[in-house]
Amino acid sequence: MSTDKNRVYIFDTTMRDGEQSPGASMSLEEKIQISRVFDDLGIDIIEAGFPVASPGDFEAVSEVSKILKKSIPCGLSRHLKKDIDACHEALKHAPRFRIHTFISTSPLHMKHKLNKSPEDVIDAIKEHVTYARKFTDDVEWSCEDGTRTNMDYMCKTVELAIKCGARTINIPDTVGYTVPSEFKKIIETLINKVPNIDKAILSTHCHNDLGLAVANSLAGITAGARQVECTINGIGERAGNAALEEIVMAMKTRNDLMPYKTGINTKLLSKASKVVSNATGFPVQFNKAIVGKNAFAHESGIHQDGMLKNRNTYEIMTPESVGVKQTSLVMGKHSGRHAFKDKLTDLGYKDLTDDVIQVAFGKFKVLADKKKHVYDEDIAALVDDSLIKEDNVIILKSLKVFAGTGEPQKADMILEVYGEVKKASETGDGPVDAIFKCIKKLYPHDVKLQLYQVHAVTEGTDAQATVSVRIEENGKTTVGQAADTDTLVASANAYLNALNKMIIKRKKTAPEDYQQPRTYEKQKMKGI
Ligand code: KIV
Ligand code: ZN
Repeated sequence: MSTDKNRVYIFDTTMRDGEQSPGASMSLEEKIQISRVFDDLGIDIIEAGFPVASPGDFEAVSEVSKILKKSIPCGLSRHLKKDIDACHEALKHAPRFRIHTFISTSPLHMKHKLNKSPEDVIDAIKEHVTYARKFTDDVEWSCEDGTRTNMDYMCKTVELAIKCGARTINIPDTVGYTVPSEFKKIIETLINKVPNIDKAILSTHCHNDLGLAVANSLAGITAGARQVECTINGIGERAGNAALEEIVMAMKTRNDLMPYKTGINTKLLSKASKVVSNATGFPVQFNKAIVGKNAFAHESGIHQDGMLKNRNTYEIMTPESVGVKQTSLVMGKHSGRHAFKDKLTDLGYKDLTDDVIQVAFGKFKVLADKKKHVYDEDIAALVDDSLIKEDNVIILKSLKVFAGTGEPQKADMILEVYGEVKKASETGDGPVDAIFKCIKKLYPHDVKLQLYQVHAVTEGTDAQATVSVRIEENGKTTVGQAADTDTLVASANAYLNALNKMIIKRKKTAPEDYQQPRTYEKQKMKGI
């Protein structure tokens, strides 16, 4: 821990609270990919999950804790010994780890949720914070529904948690109910009234139900909190959590008023936002502060004119400071492989295999033939597309779609399914329905389509479309993505990508004999 009194620690809960957003489930591979980016980003503490909640959560916390180089891994637990044990089991391979344990302290939660008296809660804190300290000296304690808790009672519980060994005290605004002036007062009161408060770091955890999560977090920091809990893109329960990128950039941009430091390399914020959006399938709204597509776009003539004269006229921070490169016209169909490779390095794709580069280059040539202007975003989309196809066992070979008014929409499809080439024709309620029906015919399966969305990568009618698809099977979800200038081809590939991921997910949670995909899948298709 730093001795600098203005150092604010960034505690990220994208993979725990963020994953609690309905439909935001992330696979183990996605959590590992996210964690690598977060580690580079400079996040101090990464809450990777709630280990007791499911074997998947346990595995994710455990695997993430093994790969982090700088960030401290953390797991969440209720005031139950089995939860704390699960945290310890999942985290024990890391050189340093944190156990975050919480209990509700508001009258409403104690009575209706816990069915406990305030005295019972006091006993539970004593028992469980002390127990968690047996495994690590880095214990965080949270008073759930803190902002609706009686202040004297909160002071009592905080003092006790610190006495029992908690070194971080987190004050959640669980239901996003507070406002900046009130939250500031709560933090100030704790600092002024809790006698042992100097032995712990105070933390904020604000939800966004009234759109005040970032403002409340900053008010907490101004009052003396030195840890802030937040998520990338602000994802989280209901309206989400405080957005990490907004808090960090607010402190950096208005350092004159908020002279605080974080360890965040802000140039990686844009990358972190993309990786989280891709994994969850949650698009980032265009006008989202810091990481939205339009956050640095200047549309009106007056603004553009001002920008040309002096960027400061309409820009309070530079796009480069958050890792947004000015979009550039890349190359045409005559550009060579070498220039393409240089472009990839420039775009931050550093560790690509030759195979992936070759596939992406082939796609670039096809795209350059179809599309007048190929932009950086196009290149990024087709590389991402080449990366996600690596493990696919079901591959689209060809697709023809008949759409329009009058006739029913029809799709003719050829797929390679575990090496076997198969054909189908289906009609549907629209071309996408016909495509998805073909896939179902060629690879019978029973998943629920939870989300289907299309985005244009750049502008113009010849723009590539990125399609995201989320499917669900027995409570497990996967998100697939694909890009193409043909929205229907992208739709088929996105669905297949989600399905391929689901096949991998099934194998991981199945018994030994399930691990031989060819035999098992073939039998399944024959209905054995
Ligand atoms: O919002 C909340 O109260 C939480 C706690 C578990 C910290 O997420
Ligand atoms: Zn929360």
